[in-house]
Amino acid sequence: MKSYAVAQADEIPPGSRKLVEVGGRPIVIFNVNGEYFALLNRCPHQGASLCHGHLTGFASSTGPGQYALERAGEVIRCPWHGWEFDVKTGQSYFDPLHTKVRRYEAGVASGKEIVEGPYKAETFEVSVERNYVVVQV
Ligand code: FES
Repeated sequence: MKSYAVAQADEIPPGSRKLVEVGGRPIVIFNVNGEYFALLNRCPHQGASLCHGHLTGFASSTGPGQYALERAGEVIRCPWHGWEFDVKTGQSYFDPLHTKVRRYEAGVASGKEIVEGPYKAETFEVSVERNYVVVQV
């Protein structure tokens, strides 16, 4: 699995998303309360861009007239027909065994880690001041 630095961490603040292309794949990166998650930007229904969907949560109820929104900002609703997927896992809740969005590992690596990496080459003195979002494909 290869790792790609796709954005500076502060480009994707909590509650936002960014569409990137990695190895020819459109991938949407979400920041959920400071954690980064990556999904293929293609709805399994008819291929809509999930990046343009509405972020919501799960509604729960203890009885008529009683409801609460849980996990706000962790569910992406497809902009075309409203299918919903868990941003953290890509899982749907209407058909979790058969319908899900491809998920990729995502996290933050310091610029220093990226510069050091596993490869050795001619080096130049650099300074690293920011963190980067990294996706593994
Ligand atoms: S294309 Fe996403 S729900 Fe239809």
